[in-house]
Amino acid sequence: MAQKKFHMGWFLNFTVDEWTEPHAGLGGNPWNGKFYVEVGQMLEKACFDYMMIEDKLIVSEAYGGTSEVYLKHGLMAPKHDPVPLATTVGVMTQKLGVVATISTLGYPPYLLARACSTIDSLVEGRFGWNIVTSAEDFAAQNFGMEKLPPREQRYEMADEYVDLVNQLFDSWDKDAVVLDRESRTYVDYKKVRPIHFKGKYYSCRGPLNTVPSPQHRPVYVQAGGSPRGRDFAAKHADSIIAVANGVQEMKAYREDIRARAAKHGRNPDDVKVLYLISPTVGATTAEAKEKFRRIVEHPDYIEQSLALISFITDIDFAQFDLDKPLPGKLTTNGESGSLDKFQQWGSGKTLRQLCVDEAGGAVSSIELVDSYANVAERMADAMAEVGGDGYLITSPSHRVSRRYVSDICEGVIPILQRRGVVRTEYTGKTLRETLREF
Ligand SMILES: Cc1cc2nc3c(=O)[nH]c(=O)nc-3n(C[C@H](O)[C@H](O)[C@H](O)COP(=O)(O)O)c2cc1C
Repeated sequence: MAQKKFHMGWFLNFTVDEWTEPHAGLGGNPWNGKFYVEVGQMLEKACFDYMMIEDKLIVSEAYGGTSEVYLKHGLMAPKHDPVPLATTVGVMTQKLGVVATISTLGYPPYLLARACSTIDSLVEGRFGWNIVTSAEDFAAQNFGMEKLPPREQRYEMADEYVDLVNQLFDSWDKDAVVLDRESRTYVDYKKVRPIHFKGKYYSCRGPLNTVPSPQHRPVYVQAGGSPRGRDFAAKHADSIIAVANGVQEMKAYREDIRARAAKHGRNPDDVKVLYLISPTVGATTAEAKEKFRRIVEHPDYIEQSLALISFITDIDFAQFDLDKPLPGKLTTNGESGSLDKFQQWGSGKTLRQLCVDEAGGAVSSIELVDSYANVAERMADAMAEVGGDGYLITSPSHRVSRRYVSDICEGVIPILQRRGVVRTEYTGKTLRETLREF
């Protein structure tokens, strides 16, 4: 029996490109967005479902108690707003979905619903919202709070938030715009209503003041790692982005999500779980291994990996001995799924080994350091074992370059296409249709 097709997404941030390397696109100056538009066009040629733009709202000092490493290397900062970038990429492409991360901590619900609706119209139904609650105390302090609320409360707030924005999207019936010249009626006012939402954390009168967008509401993307997070994602998301340690964990996570979605009365097939991977590819296995060796032996690599994991967990990894295993199992009020992926508790690996692991530290759900053909084969075989739904690619070097995008889009994807396991054309018009095609 032919293998079911799987979906492809790309994960990046609106930050500096591979600016210290020969293949630097704009040498660390991608701020007019043109580099990312080109990346989007390459992804569209390769028939990716969506480009997902990660976001954070701080300059971190998590690593070593200072912003030095982050700012010196341009790592996770500077970082520009993904919302206008997603809009620009969406306007400059025709089929690719564009997903922007927007934090419920930072945006009032009304403004978020209005921005999402406006962008979904501008990009003709291809917009997605990556729902995050933010995971750092510094982010809370940028919005007038002293500390990040605990995880359970963040999700309770986010549940209410999403309920509110859903009501705002529904405050206009789909057919409210009648555009009737004869009666000179643009909108039938009887089809637009206030929502009078009064919750524990948010209240809003409504209605929204935008016309219903092509998707009515954007595609919802979410990454829930903890049990509470998984439940939130299974309840709301059209696509879940996740990181796991190997095929068995991927399979178990997806099954858990599907069961939770069914419990919420949803069709589990409407929730596409995409796993983060960061392949390193070459013409031969030896070439790929050599490339990977050069990435992880770069003098900055370990420090940047530790700074990155410190950033997303609010744990200072500068305090641990590089050549010993971690002193105990770590927990976080930040990104727990990524922490568990990174620390591989029980593996006995030293911190240095965790950073240079072939499964890509915190980011690659399976090991993919090999020739184009072998990476494609491993991706297809692993997905068959997991049962679906797809992958989210990110670069192993913490930076994106045109060369890396080409390695995947022009090196790996055509092999997967010939095997019949990924898309060769878009048949749907909106991102939701694209995601639900198979
Ligand atoms: C692939 C992936 C991408 C994520 N992208 C972001 C992001 O852009 N911004 C953000 O604040 N958090 C991001 N997160 C963190 C999640 O939103 C969430 O906080 C995290 O998965 C922890 O979930 P948990 O609290 O349920 O364990 C991401 C997580 C994963 C696994």
